[in-house]
Amino acid sequence: MMDERKWAEGVSARIKEKMRTVAARSRGKIPFTTVDGVFDDWTEKNICWWTNGFWGGEMWQLYHATGEGVYRENALMVEEKLDRNLMNAQGMDHDSGFKWMPTAVVNYRLHHDGVSRNRALLAANDLAGRFNPVGRFIRAWNDDGDGSKAGWAIIDCMMNLPLLYWAYQETSDPRYLQIATMHADTAQKYFIREDGSANHIVEFDPATGEFVRTYGGQGYGVGSSWTRGQAWALYGFVLSYLHTKKEGYLGTAKRVANYFITNIPENGLIPVDFRQPSDCALEDSTAAAIASCGLLELADCLEEPERSLYRRAALRLLYALEQGRCNFSLDQDNIVEKCTGAFHDKKHEYAIIYGDYFLIEAIFKLTGEGIFVW
Ligand code: GLY
Repeated sequence: MMDERKWAEGVSARIKEKMRTVAARSRGKIPFTTVDGVFDDWTEKNICWWTNGFWGGEMWQLYHATGEGVYRENALMVEEKLDRNLMNAQGMDHDSGFKWMPTAVVNYRLHHDGVSRNRALLAANDLAGRFNPVGRFIRAWNDDGDGSKAGWAIIDCMMNLPLLYWAYQETSDPRYLQIATMHADTAQKYFIREDGSANHIVEFDPATGEFVRTYGGQGYGVGSSWTRGQAWALYGFVLSYLHTKKEGYLGTAKRVANYFITNIPENGLIPVDFRQPSDCALEDSTAAAIASCGLLELADCLEEPERSLYRRAALRLLYALEQGRCNFSLDQDNIVEKCTGAFHDKKHEYAIIYGDYFLIEAIFKLTGEGIFVW
């Protein structure tokens, strides 16, 4: 049987060897994807893009693992650049956790800098301000001011709740905790289906809070099972359990995990949607990387035999990624390949920054080199 620890240490060594060079040649950038193998830069393209915190998080993970200054410098630069979001109401949405947990919150935990604390609290206040009290959900995207999306909530938001849990710990103001848990309770009721799969988008009437309908969102269609959404649900409910110790969230995380594990294809590589047509082979490696992080955290919440069950599933996903979807050469900046934003996008299967971020988070969880972000 494979020695898991040795295997993870080998992958970690290859990550660190590659990223030392990539981080040095990517100074000043906030990458989303690659162009001809080279990281692009979203600083001017769209500083409010929801993925702009992941490069900073990747840098902090690598700094924690190696102590090398280039990672810290890059991470600090990302955090500062994100300030422009805080002056742009239209650029702020439910994804504030993704932007400020891996940047300002990590920096604050490591260095106790009041500026980082201030940034993260401003972001948490904005996130809390998106709460709809009658529907008990956090509003997802903005619209053009016509209110057409005022009733939309999405499963991804579960991963942003840790910003509110952090703000509660930091300020002792229970409103942050109340909003986070009310949203999680609503997600449990309306997003998670009987079989453990999850809807991507649920629309409520923003005036009455009543359920209206679901949408397929970034997945194949209504009632389908967008794999990254399943992964956000899995990891998100584990995190809500870790922050609140409410057993119901742990039970939901297990149901979502069981559904995910049951649907892993023979080759261990994850499609864009578990219910996409059988003649469609489109993949999304980010779903595998995110789900493996969630499964490893879930395993750590449980006793045997469940502990080994979820840990083995995480290792199966990570092993398949490492064998078939990771590029450790210095010729291209990204590591993880075949990532997909949404099923109906024109472009599929390319490099996306959070694929790399969650792969590194997962591998460093196994080696013990990582920092807990969420
Ligand atoms: N949170 C958006 C996505 O997962 O694509």
